[in-house]
Amino acid sequence: MKVIGISGSPTKDSNTDTLIKEILDGTGAETEFFKLPDLKVGPCIACMKCVYTNECIIDDDFKWLSKKVLEADAIVVGSPTFYGAASAFTKAFIERLFSMRHIKCITSGKLAATVAVGVASESMVSEWIGNALRAGGMDIVGNMTAKGTPGCFVCGVGESCHYAIWNAYSKELTGMDLGVEAAYEGYFELLPDNKPYQHGSAKILKEYRSVKDEPDVMAEAERIGKMIREKMESE
Ligand SMILES: Cc1cc2nc3c(=O)[nH]c(=O)nc-3n(C[C@H](O)[C@H](O)[C@H](O)COP(=O)(O)O)c2cc1C
Repeated sequence: MKVIGISGSPTKDSNTDTLIKEILDGTGAETEFFKLPDLKVGPCIACMKCVYTNECIIDDDFKWLSKKVLEADAIVVGSPTFYGAASAFTKAFIERLFSMRHIKCITSGKLAATVAVGVASESMVSEWIGNALRAGGMDIVGNMTAKGTPGCFVCGVGESCHYAIWNAYSKELTGMDLGVEAAYEGYFELLPDNKPYQHGSAKILKEYRSVKDEPDVMAEAERIGKMIREKMESE
């Protein structure tokens, strides 16, 4: 039994990486982990040369990565949330899976799980990855999400920035209550003189949000890993 993890996070040892690895460990199977930003996997060019071969003609790392996908009983794909969507690294990989779909759908029957980390819209990303893998005939065992570190916590400008990213998640811009203030309680505090788009004002209370400090999130990753294991054994 073999399970591979594929991360579309460019950050070293990111929360996305941690959760994918926790799921892999939870499977107790033989595993391999790949980080797309360390590889060269470009987007699909819609040439349709893969239709009868199920092989992409682009000469990059997807050539061997697609073989790893094919050999695996289960795959775990994770991404950070960038501009409300999966990272471009993740999107390019997902697009390239198109080559494996035509006629025979050679990824059909594989188990899969998804991970997305973000500040506000990560569940959309996790579900989007799941839908894309389901389109390749895969059986989605679990879609998980976690809250990550907003750029403002680590960019270096921090509290002195007039923009302050959490204002971009405000009701004024989105028309929705995305729950960011509640989800980051204890991490930052908007100060009374904060005025979205005019004068950002906040206090950063904790600089980094790590899933390793969140036992429920880590337990969910382990649980998905165990579910993959059980499903692999029953098939
Ligand atoms: C270019 C960029 C765009 C981002 N856009 C969003 C966004 O639209 N929504 C969101 O929830 N988080 C956004 N974030 C924050 C990331 O999702 C957050 O930093 C997350 O923790 C990254 O996960 P990782 O550490 O596992 O890579 C953005 C970060 C970057 C660098």
